[in-house]
Amino acid sequence: MCGIVGYIGPRQAYPIIITGLKRQEYRGYDSTGIALINPTLKVYKKKGKVAELESAILGEDVKGNIGIGHTRWATHGEPSDRNAHPHVSASGKLAIIHNGIIENYAQLKTELLKKGYQFNSDTDTEVLLNFIEEIKNNTNCSLEEAVRIALKRVSGAYVILLLDQDHPDTIVAARKGSPLVIGIGKGEHFLGSDATPMLEYTKEVVYVNDYEVAIIKADELILKNLGNERQTPYITKLDMELAAIEKGGYDHFMLKEIFEQPQTIYDCLRGRLDAEAGTITMSGIQKYADQIKNANRIVMVACGTSWHAGLVAEYIFEELTRISVEVEYASEFRYRNPVINKGDVIIAISQSGETADTLVAIENAKAKGAIILGVVNVVGSSIARVSDAGAYTHAGPEIGVASTKAFTAQLAVLTMIALKIGYEKGTIDRDRYLRLLQELDAVPGKVAEVLQSHERIKEIAEKYKDAKDCLYLGRGYNFPVALEGALKLKEISYIHAEGYPAAEMKHGPIALVEETLPVIFVATKDSYHEKVVSNMQEIKARKGKIIAVINESDQLSPTLANDVILVPEADEIIAPMISVIPMQLLAYYIGVAKGYDVDKPRNLAKSVTVE
Ligand code: M6R
Repeated sequence: MCGIVGYIGPRQAYPIIITGLKRQEYRGYDSTGIALINPTLKVYKKKGKVAELESAILGEDVKGNIGIGHTRWATHGEPSDRNAHPHVSASGKLAIIHNGIIENYAQLKTELLKKGYQFNSDTDTEVLLNFIEEIKNNTNCSLEEAVRIALKRVSGAYVILLLDQDHPDTIVAARKGSPLVIGIGKGEHFLGSDATPMLEYTKEVVYVNDYEVAIIKADELILKNLGNERQTPYITKLDMELAAIEKGGYDHFMLKEIFEQPQTIYDCLRGRLDAEAGTITMSGIQKYADQIKNANRIVMVACGTSWHAGLVAEYIFEELTRISVEVEYASEFRYRNPVINKGDVIIAISQSGETADTLVAIENAKAKGAIILGVVNVVGSSIARVSDAGAYTHAGPEIGVASTKAFTAQLAVLTMIALKIGYEKGTIDRDRYLRLLQELDAVPGKVAEVLQSHERIKEIAEKYKDAKDCLYLGRGYNFPVALEGALKLKEISYIHAEGYPAAEMKHGPIALVEETLPVIFVATKDSYHEKVVSNMQEIKARKGKIIAVINESDQLSPTLANDVILVPEADEIIAPMISVIPMQLLAYYIGVAKGYDVDKPRNLAKSVTVE
């Protein structure tokens, strides 16, 4: 969490940093700050979003060719002006911005307090900065050297960018566990948590590795490890256009991303799925196909929406490949000493590719001999790089904090992997395989069809927007879709929502049902359909308000439901990619109807790079 931006070169740094911060606000938006050198160090910072800082300093002389900027998701210290980054050192000469957590900051702070340091904030970041300054002063070394020495004593995760008023030609940066991208221009460099701040200036970027320190001048980039050895910067070409990170006429990124899904699912399938020829081409997966086929088990590791994709995939993989699958919350998996045997296959699912818990979970599993496959959206991200192989989801940048198009793309990729392995292993016959390829091929068109119902879903949203609680129910493949629907509603509309397997309702949640409770049934035709309809009867008997997501051929459910959303029919394996669309739209329209900032819901950040 937290977005960092930096610039050094002949241009004015301020507009580049402000624009870059706006693009990275999805990473946190509690407070914003900028530091520039011209010729002395100047810091502007404020609680609130980037636009609030921008208005607050309107008319000020914010000039300088070197600068750093930060948009914060608070960890240590409440969101406030004083806790906003950048922080300035005791001498007033150094400034720092930080994304991550310094876990042993309390110990470092005690040492510094004993030496007479005072602190102006509650942050771990200010402690780290003064610790660096203390080393620099004591050992009379360069900032770069002091950073290296300091980081050897630091535990936790970080990306830091530092300015030194006495060296206005250099930014010093370092990373461990949080992302840092450096854009290479002609006589200039750009820095960001992702590549969005530099898109219009350069397509050449370097992804800095863990434990590397970067010394960045306008015309020079030096990378070193913590042992002071030079590292070769590996330059990657960006495959992302500016238009992909703009709203393109939609009111919100979330809505744009929901509506992009016919295209993003198509992009994900393109070049891989050939339904006519009956082939699935996935080179990363092919390399490990034998190990996957022979694996005793597969463990899906993820968080949030990506974890829900893992749950759907559990059903799909077990059905198609007959390999036992476990789905783990990364945060639990990494800490509970799980049994991992050599040759176990771990599939890490992540939109951002930077989720700290998922990253550490797979690093631990890799060290124990597991094969790590990444199903990741962001190209070049940490999880993608730690994985042995995998498949990108190609959904394009997802900026709305609520994950939408990433979920359907994850399902598309996971379904292709399961189909490929199942077919090669012989656990599905050719007819079924070919039929499912055709079904998968038809998903973009079916999703486009559901999107046409958006006005109807908006009306339903208006009707239920004042609900205090909501229940989401589904069975089988649609159970994780119910969980995902509840998560979307919680994060966007702040309405308490619970997802449950429809049959489990009788073991507790049915006690919640009363006249005012909306109950959303994800009840497309599948092997359990009649059972779900019975569950609907049970809710109706207790006067709950039923919103049913069903297929047109379902004659019975409309007689039970208060509101119906129709979606096209599909094989039950494929259905979640389609039935989730009304969940996304419903949450979106309820959030908007309640007047909330759906792209930046309270307390959240897009990329959870702290545990
Ligand atoms: O980037 P990741 O997919 O690893 O992120 C995982 C979760 O943080 C993410 O899905 C989160 O739950 C979203 N806000 C859900 O909409």
